[in-house]
Amino acid sequence: MYRTHNCGELRLADVGKTVTLAGWVQRVRDFGQMSFIDLRDRYGITQLVVDKSDVGREFVVQVTGKVVERSSKNPNIPTGEVEIAVGELKVLSAAETPPFTIEEVSDGGDELRMKYRYLDLRRAPLQRNMMLRHRMAQSVRRYLDEAGFLEIETPYMIGSTPEGARDFVVPSRMNPGEFYALPQSPQTFKQLLMVAGYDKYFQIVRCFRDEDLRADRQPEFTQIDCEMSFVEQEDVLATFEGMARFMFRETMGVEFGEEPFVRMSYADAMARYGNDKPDLRFGMEICEITNIVKNRDFAVFNEAEYVGAVVATGCADWTRKQIDEMTEYVKRPQIGAKGLVWVRVDDEVKSSVDKFYQPDDLQRWIAEVGAQKGDLVFVVSGSRLQSLRVLSELRLELGERLGLRDKSRFAPLWVVDFPLLEWDDDTQRFYAMHHPFTSPKPEDIALLDSDPGSVRANAYDFVVNGVEVGGGSIRIFDSGLQARMFDLLGFTPEQAQAQFGFLMNAFKFGAPPHGGIAFGFDRFCSLFGGSDSIRDYIAFPKNNSGRDVMIDAPSLIDKSQLDELCLISTAK
Ligand code: AMO
Repeated sequence: MYRTHNCGELRLADVGKTVTLAGWVQRVRDFGQMSFIDLRDRYGITQLVVDKSDVGREFVVQVTGKVVERSSKNPNIPTGEVEIAVGELKVLSAAETPPFTIEEVSDGGDELRMKYRYLDLRRAPLQRNMMLRHRMAQSVRRYLDEAGFLEIETPYMIGSTPEGARDFVVPSRMNPGEFYALPQSPQTFKQLLMVAGYDKYFQIVRCFRDEDLRADRQPEFTQIDCEMSFVEQEDVLATFEGMARFMFRETMGVEFGEEPFVRMSYADAMARYGNDKPDLRFGMEICEITNIVKNRDFAVFNEAEYVGAVVATGCADWTRKQIDEMTEYVKRPQIGAKGLVWVRVDDEVKSSVDKFYQPDDLQRWIAEVGAQKGDLVFVVSGSRLQSLRVLSELRLELGERLGLRDKSRFAPLWVVDFPLLEWDDDTQRFYAMHHPFTSPKPEDIALLDSDPGSVRANAYDFVVNGVEVGGGSIRIFDSGLQARMFDLLGFTPEQAQAQFGFLMNAFKFGAPPHGGIAFGFDRFCSLFGGSDSIRDYIAFPKNNSGRDVMIDAPSLIDKSQLDELCLISTAK
């Protein structure tokens, strides 16, 4: 038997017992003929007292000894009242000096820790993250199983589709010159499962998307993917609001009370928060003032399609330097503001546009945006969409600086009534805002011909703290309407048949009304864990250039392998 106990469980009550532990040496402190060793496993750390020995950091050892009460106790760890007076120490595996310290806080840089991910994963913070992920996955399964969902796997080697992000492709040796694609999501398969009568499906499933990476995006990521038959939007929202509440309760101990989650239309979210995933942990809503700033000598506002403001509560005492910092922040290329107008609401009202506006004018603005004495008002102008984007970023940054984005508080909501289509100026065509299988709202179907851009969809997102955690829709289940949709998206009937014929044909054989949702599981985990980066919740993630620096992938392959896959001869 390698061990009688783990490194996290011994307490005062165990004093006197003879125990055997096994684990990694986190730290050795030598005192003359005696050494103290911190022995670690995933359950915790236990202090060992040994005769001077020559074990080093990260050696794997097995020790047998007596549990004794410590003379100087460590209140910071659960085992801190005891230590093991070691009789016998056996080295199970020696270790080279690790490239960085494997402790709560490591001295290793990002790149290095990624290269030795298996060592980084030994650290307690990452072990806590993996355990959280595990608990969340189990609670998802418990809830959905209880609700009658079946867990069904769908293939990873499928056909490429041109919609959405870019596909990762896999060459087929047996079908020279042809490729599989890895799924961006199991969307079409889960719909086929509904046609096949499975009624309630879920899967915790890997998805692959070749898109630009960010802190909340990985090329392979995991979804909690779900679909239900004979449902309307309300049924889907109720089921998955239930799941979210269950997960918050079971893994975080967070209760939201009786009130249903906030519902907000896409149009409302855009007007009040400047984006479709509002952070509702704080107010400071955007206020449009286009109509009350015109007709003075300020050309910038006179010519603007939209003028809007955000009130920085209690910031009237900000220095010019602080205001300039905010201006620089929104002028960064990622945000792209041209400038920022400000109004300081104090005993005296001062603004950056005093030259153009009378005190009365400014008082009208202040009343309109609801600013109080002591506040600072920021005003942005330009095209409507761009201004809202800037105001959204400004609001979030102000929230951050004012400490209003507390990671231990959660503000969930449903964003509903998304537009069905999105116009793209570059390619001069509509794209599906969610995906081409999403159903228009029945009351808007008449607009498909006259004004497709204004048609709303039965689509919804689940948003928490400004993060899009999940998204889904009620689907089209009529092959005629589906064909109409592909037509709107610029597919010829032949192209639609070639790409999605399997689904449209399936609909001809008795398709039930259906709908569903997929949650970004990695994002859900990082939200619960209080981190902005999903990488911390993925055991072996890729870096920002899509590389796994530990195994050094992607990598070149042999000419013979290329030959066998017919990649040399087929390459243009
Ligand atoms: P969607 O494309 O909105 O919907 O994806 C669902 C959720 O997956 C997460 N997500 C990601 N997480 C990490 N890295 C990525 N690259 C990434 N891309 C998306 C987000 C998102 O909300 N089939 C539909 C769902 C449906 O209609 O049922 C779909 O995939 O949290």
